[in-house]
Amino acid sequence: MNTITVPLQDRSYDVVIGSDLLQNMQSLVQQVHRATEYFFVLDQNIETTHGQCAANSFSGGVKSFVLQAIESNKTMQSVESIWDAMLKEGYDRHGIVVALGGGLTGDVAGFAAATYLRGVPVVQVPTTLLAMVDASIGGKTGINVPIAQKDGGVLLGKNLAGSFWQPALVIADVSTLKTLDDRQLRCGLAECVKHGMLGHQDVITFIQEQNEGIFARDVDILLSLVSQSVAIKANVVAQDEREQGQRALLNLGHTFAHAIEPMSALHLFHGEAVSIGLCAACSCSEALGLIDAEYSDNIRTLLTGIGLPTRLPMPIQLEDAMVLMVKDKKAVRSQIRLVLPTQDGAAVVDDIDEGAIALAWASVGATS
Ligand SMILES: NC(=O)c1ccc[n+]([C@@H]2O[C@H](COP(=O)([O-])OP(=O)(O)OC[C@H]3O[C@@H](n4cnc5c(N)ncnc54)[C@H](O)[C@@H]3O)[C@@H](O)[C@H]2O)c1
Repeated sequence: MNTITVPLQDRSYDVVIGSDLLQNMQSLVQQVHRATEYFFVLDQNIETTHGQCAANSFSGGVKSFVLQAIESNKTMQSVESIWDAMLKEGYDRHGIVVALGGGLTGDVAGFAAATYLRGVPVVQVPTTLLAMVDASIGGKTGINVPIAQKDGGVLLGKNLAGSFWQPALVIADVSTLKTLDDRQLRCGLAECVKHGMLGHQDVITFIQEQNEGIFARDVDILLSLVSQSVAIKANVVAQDEREQGQRALLNLGHTFAHAIEPMSALHLFHGEAVSIGLCAACSCSEALGLIDAEYSDNIRTLLTGIGLPTRLPMPIQLEDAMVLMVKDKKAVRSQIRLVLPTQDGAAVVDDIDEGAIALAWASVGATS
């Protein structure tokens, strides 16, 4: 078992990474928080497996709200339903929310906890690789917000409302990844590759060399992978909790990804959109002379080797992608701000020439 602390003064917390941890969840939680009542927000797909296992470890039993983990449920309506259930069950400020599931469940449950009675503690219990290495760490919580389109339709803008609400504890039980399908495991690897691209070649090499063991769900390899990635994210978050500077680097590839993820015709999961976004970011960087062609080729080869997409599954209009990019939170007064790879890490780049962005989109299959 590894424990990595996210040092944030009075908001510091531990990320406990191990196997078969859910069976002892109550004692792990009670080491940091002596709550009397626990409210589970549970991913529907793991309700009767990992959810039941975790709930059984709580002697007094737990109340729960079950959430179907689809992006169209990552909404204010779900948050209100959680508040409603907690109010009906009489939860006061001594209660604690336990988010058990992937990043979607963690984001919604975290936002509900941040706002219920002006804030109750949340314990994040990620059960996808993506949530273990990324979403559960750093306190970002949030929901998607509907954006009206010119054609009268509505797209869900990713994570456009939310709050910073650090968890009291994160419990990453890699045994839960045994039931996660390969497509979702790959999505988590996209975020691990992103962490590697922030100047951690050792992580890139680890993924290349241990690809087989990762997909075989080898517990020691998964423990090492998750620990390395969590340490990278914890370090960045510790230096810049509220994304005033350094933390923005974690958005590498995400401004591209957030533009394509809501396009329902593409059927992309978050990690898949990130993979394509990383490739687009590489092309943009190359056009600006920040990296050479060999760097981009290596990243594309790595992502392809994992089985992640490096191009859009079907062409999209460049104009549509640009509109959503400007709506992304990382745009400043409608100017697109991108995090782009450099030869030895990443950098935030402002005022990017639109030609370089168009070229980046074209490189992943967008058409004008
Ligand atoms: N807060 C942050 O800092 C942050 C960072 C990255 C991503 N995110 C958000 O996280 C979400 C993506 O998270 P995700 O990739 O974990 O997706 P997810 O939460 O949608 O889960 C993916 C799928 O896996 C299922 N699942 C979860 N655990 C399982 C298990 N152990 N076995 C079998 N099935 C399981 C879920 O039911 C779902 O169908 C997005 O909404 C994204 O915006 C947030």
